[in-house]
Amino acid sequence: MRPPITVPSFSNYSSSSYSSPSCDRRLSTLVRHLLPMDSHGDSVSASPTSAFQADSVFAHVVRAPEDPILGVTVAYNKDPSPVKLNLGVGAYRTEEGKPLVLNVVRRVEEQLVNDRSRNKEYLPIVGLADFNKLSAKLIFGANSPVIQENRVTTVQSLSGTGALRVGGEFLARHYHQRTIYLPQPTWGNHPKIFTLAGLSVKTYRYYAPATRGLDFQGLLEDLGSAPSGSVVLLHACAHNPTGVDPTPEQWEQIRQLIRSKALLPFFDSAYQGFASGSLDADAHSVRIFAADGGELLLAQSYAKNMGMYGERVGALSVVCKSADVASKVESQLKLVIRPMYSSPPIHGASIVAAILKDRDLFHEWTVELKGMADRIITMRQQLLDALRARGTPGDWSHIIKQIGMFTFTGLNAEQVSFMNKEYHIYMTSDGRISMAGLSSKTVPHLADAIHAAVTRVV
Ligand code: LMR
Repeated sequence: MRPPITVPSFSNYSSSSYSSPSCDRRLSTLVRHLLPMDSHGDSVSASPTSAFQADSVFAHVVRAPEDPILGVTVAYNKDPSPVKLNLGVGAYRTEEGKPLVLNVVRRVEEQLVNDRSRNKEYLPIVGLADFNKLSAKLIFGANSPVIQENRVTTVQSLSGTGALRVGGEFLARHYHQRTIYLPQPTWGNHPKIFTLAGLSVKTYRYYAPATRGLDFQGLLEDLGSAPSGSVVLLHACAHNPTGVDPTPEQWEQIRQLIRSKALLPFFDSAYQGFASGSLDADAHSVRIFAADGGELLLAQSYAKNMGMYGERVGALSVVCKSADVASKVESQLKLVIRPMYSSPPIHGASIVAAILKDRDLFHEWTVELKGMADRIITMRQQLLDALRARGTPGDWSHIIKQIGMFTFTGLNAEQVSFMNKEYHIYMTSDGRISMAGLSSKTVPHLADAIHAAVTRVV
């Protein structure tokens, strides 16, 4: 029980600032607002049962668990071990294990800071116009019919998460089907985002644990039996958490199935350029759907490919059958965004727009992007070599077959927990490791840990 609160007697205040009649009136108004009143409207003194005495009105709130991905970093930060290694969150690190700000981003940021003509006025609800146009061009391709025919509306969003949330809420309000099918497994935030947006979440088979590859047959069967019109979430490339992508031929079959059943594709493109090192190659899946004249939604993020994680820069595009429908859709997206966060932030989007707009800066970006993608591919080979050198039981070739930021190792929750306790390695409990968090220096430590886990923990 907290000690009773003593309500001050205002007669004690003798300072001149409290002595004027108007000040007295203000004080008595304040007292009337703060203190309980009796039936005549006079203040009564605080009793032990007053609101001041009671337990918190939030006393019943139970502590929520940490986020399964971001919580890994929270635990990592508390670990004093000098050998600790964070392979949890998908965030790029240099060979020295440091976060990377791209040179091109730094350069543009300096230019923007020194440009005195810039201001910090609110952006429109849909964000920075240049940024939106250039983002659509980046993912659909400059010559895409959806751009040339103005059939796409693109709005700036709070990174990919924000785009998924706004898109989900738009669908819940305006689309006739409320069910969205997510790959099994998928990024842990997907089900929460869409459920809170008002959609009902179901899954389709995606990953085959036996081959550590794609369950293509299962995928076709599940999407084939989904009710017509259902929304289907597709990872544009570098599937998170598995690193398993369909081949171009498989993508074509998926496209035909989706279109023949009038399912509505919703792409999540969080890794364009980061998977293969080529922006165009990583946009292949989206572009074959955009080229067939059908409709789709697309969430884009610049967190990974431009290293803009904390700036929260992304975009939501809705491709429609006509320019007229697209502009009506945009008007409704504004009604979703305005009461949610009013309008998006200006800084990160200005940096991205400046890079996308300028030939030289764009080229510089693609070189740095390829450097990041290549370093991750090198880490895959080094880890595979290290496990083979140790004679670690099992076939680890999936490490180099999987693509993008993550390897879905196949390690189980007990093995992950063992590696955490004995080797201070931090990763998500589903056995996903962020290859981008690894370096030549830390590969041996990880290989030792995996070797010990698979030989000592069944
Ligand atoms: C991840 O999957 O690690 C990233 O997409 C970061 C996040 O927000 O979960």
